[in-house]
Formats: sequence, C-alpha cells, structure tokens
Amino acid sequence: MPHIHVIVAMTRHHVIGKSGHLPWRLPADLHLFRQLTLGQTLIGGRRTFAEIGHPLDGRLNLVLSRDADRVADLSPCRTIKEALAQAEEAGREIFCIGGAELYRQMLPLATWLHISWVEQEYDGDVYFPDLNMSDWMETTCSQHPGFRHCTYQRRSACD
Ligand SMILES: NC(=O)c1ccc[n+]([C@@H]2O[C@H](COP(=O)([O-])OP(=O)(O)OC[C@H]3O[C@@H](n4cnc5c(N)ncnc54)[C@H](OP(=O)(O)O)[C@@H]3O)[C@@H](O)[C@H]2O)c1
Repeated sequence: MPHIHVIVAMTRHHVIGKSGHLPWRLPADLHLFRQLTLGQTLIGGRRTFAEIGHPLDGRLNLVLSRDADRVADLSPCRTIKEALAQAEEAGREIFCIGGAELYRQMLPLATWLHISWVEQEYDGDVYFPDLNMSDWMETTCSQHPGFRHCTYQRRSACD
C-alpha cells in the first residue's frame, strides 16, 4: 500500500471551514497544496469536491459519496475501502484532502501529516479532529505569508 498523507490548512483551534467554504484566502497555501499533491492520488469527501467545483488536474481524484450520481463527473467511491483499492492500483502516494468527515476516518490510517497552521483566528463550523501531537514527529517546517507549513511523520512508522 502506498503511503497515506493527510493534508490540511487549519487555525490553532482546528477550524478548517465555514458554511461549506475555506474561511481564508491564502494563495501561497493553494500553491503549496498543488506542489505537494501533483501526480498523486487525492481522496476527498463529496462536499469538499463540491466546493472545489472540478477535478484537480494532474492528479487522480477519488470522491467519497454514498450516492454515486451526485459526483458523476468525478471518480466516485462508495466506501473508504473502495477508494483505497483504486488508489493502491494507481500506485501513487495517497493524499486525504478532507473535509472533516474524511479526516476523521483517514487520520488513523495516515503516516504523514501536512499542516498549514493559519496564523489568524477565524470563526468556523467545521473542525479538524483532535490530534495527539506526541504521536507525530515534526520533520520540516517553513514560513509563508499568513501561515506556517509543517510536515509530520507518525512516530510508530519511524521504528
Ligand atoms: N482547511 C482545509 O484544509 C479544508 C480541506 C477540505 C475541506 N475543508 C472544508 O471542510 C468542509 C467540508 O467538510 P465536511 O466534513 O462537511 O464534508 P466532506 O468530508 O468534504 O464530505 C462529506 C461527504 O463525503 C461522503 N462520505 C464521507 N465519508 C464517507 C464514507 N465512508 N463512504 C462514503 N461516502 C462518504 C458523504 O457524501 P454523500 O453525502 O454524497 O453520501 C458525506 O456527506 C468545507 O467547509 C470545506 O471548505 C477544509
């Protein structure tokens, strides 16, 4: 199985979304997201792909929905298991791109975590799940306009 990565932008209080959208506009984060995920497989929830509005180019887009008709123009998967089987076949790294429902289900499977820590506080109605940072080892961090991007590896995967 290829590595599973979780990629997210969030505030220090774990806000990731508001009213179905990102609460902020951070072009440098979108650029970084593209750089990190290009050529890889993306797994995301139906609501997240609805917000994006189109498949992301240069990547295999796998969309989770219990009703395939809602995501007919993308590659629909009815279960995480089905999405992971398709991703494994593609043989590329797997990036879970959210939203909250998907993060909750896929975080336990991930060995890599890419967090853009948004510096400003925002109100939100969707949150990233609780994280036990002692399970994760920080490997890199870089400063960008409005956020700090850090990569973490799951400690149990380092043994
Ligand atoms: N800050 C960030 O980095 C970031 C990243 C992504 C998203 N977001 C934000 O997060 C919010 C959306 O998150 P969300 O939690 O509301 O929705 P979501 O996780 O994007 O999508 C949820 C939908 O995915 C489908 N789904 C989830 N688990 C499934 C499973 N095991 N099997 C089959 N289908 C499954 C269901 O679709 P059906 O209802 O069609 O069955 C469910 O309604 C938005 O505000 C967005 O802007 C933020």
